[in-house]
Amino acid sequence: MGPNCLTYLQEVVDSGLTVDMIGRFEKAFADALGVKHCIATPGCTPALGVLAAAFPFEPGDEIIVSPITDFGTIQGLCLENYIPVFADTEPGTVNISARSIEACITQRTRAALVVHKTGIICDMDPINDLAAKYGLFVYEDVCQAVLGRYKGRMAGTLAQAAGFSFDSEKTLGSDTGGCVVTNDDALAETLRFIGHSRGGEMAPHFGRVHSALGYAYRMPQATAAITLGQLEIIQAQVEQRDRMIRLLSGLLAEIPGITPLSIPDYMDVYSCWMAGFSIEPAAFRCSPEEFAQQLAAAGIPGAGQGRYYLMPAACAFLQKRASNKTHQYAMPPASRAYTYSGDNCPSAQAFLQNFIRWSSFCEKYQPEDCELAASIVRTVAEDNYI
Ligand SMILES: Cc1ncc(COP(=O)(O)O)c(C=O)c1O
Repeated sequence: MGPNCLTYLQEVVDSGLTVDMIGRFEKAFADALGVKHCIATPGCTPALGVLAAAFPFEPGDEIIVSPITDFGTIQGLCLENYIPVFADTEPGTVNISARSIEACITQRTRAALVVHKTGIICDMDPINDLAAKYGLFVYEDVCQAVLGRYKGRMAGTLAQAAGFSFDSEKTLGSDTGGCVVTNDDALAETLRFIGHSRGGEMAPHFGRVHSALGYAYRMPQATAAITLGQLEIIQAQVEQRDRMIRLLSGLLAEIPGITPLSIPDYMDVYSCWMAGFSIEPAAFRCSPEEFAQQLAAAGIPGAGQGRYYLMPAACAFLQKRASNKTHQYAMPPASRAYTYSGDNCPSAQAFLQNFIRWSSFCEKYQPEDCELAASIVRTVAEDNYI
């Protein structure tokens, strides 16, 4: 925890909750990223939710989104009655690409929401070029990539807006915080109006009139205090994560049958949230699931598969709505029939079958911890080679 967390919390209490800790955090985070606006929220789910609510799109419009992610990425889209369309990942990777996004574009596509999964940043330049060609709004889910860098630019500044999570498990962990960042003045104003003011404005001789369906997605002062304190120590932590994941990946790559997540050359800083690798199933007697269980038992806490990250398979309610043609899937507003299952994204599905990750990877890792983790993987591999 940042050494000033308690000082800032104390300030909140001593001020009788009148200090503007949220404003201080918002300014500090915007400055850290070099963006004009930061709008604090109680998490990334509400951050992306208020973004979805701020879009001028119609129910039944399509938003292309990464298939390997947390449910929080898509919740807002569903609440606003847009239709999530899951682009497939590039084979052997965790992320979508310009190529896989383009394959999903229709007359109804309005935006693309890209997730930098595990901290690996999507190749944004081709994605932005594609978006310019089709007139799409591009935004980033940076929950797992805070302060990561792509070609010298910071994750979260690579498109038109971005959502962040500061939940306690995240790299910039506070409580249940989050935010949206953007350089777009009008969008920032709409986000505050919808997300903080609940869409209410003062009308003369009456009072508050809700001209938009708004939300009370305000970050608590105490969360802002902790997040501000954490922000002061995050840079060094991210640099340590970057060094350690590159070291660990190199060690894992030496083990036959093991392929660590590949770190693209365009990434200057891999703000790695979770470590992971794929196993070559034909090389081992055990299943990937058993391999992960053996890793956890041998001393890598949290080692597991995370197949549930495959959103088109995990969101059973989407398939139910789509097949019953309810909500946004009624025609109109929908323009066509949709289905949701893992088969929508065969590369993502195949990737998650053999992928093993652990979220206990963190900035506390030292070179000897990387050596130890890799040696545990090697031992489990050697116990299971065919
Ligand atoms: C990629 C991604 N998106 C969204 C979320 C949701 O964030 P929050 O828990 O802050 O709402 C998470 C949290 O795990 C995440 O990892």
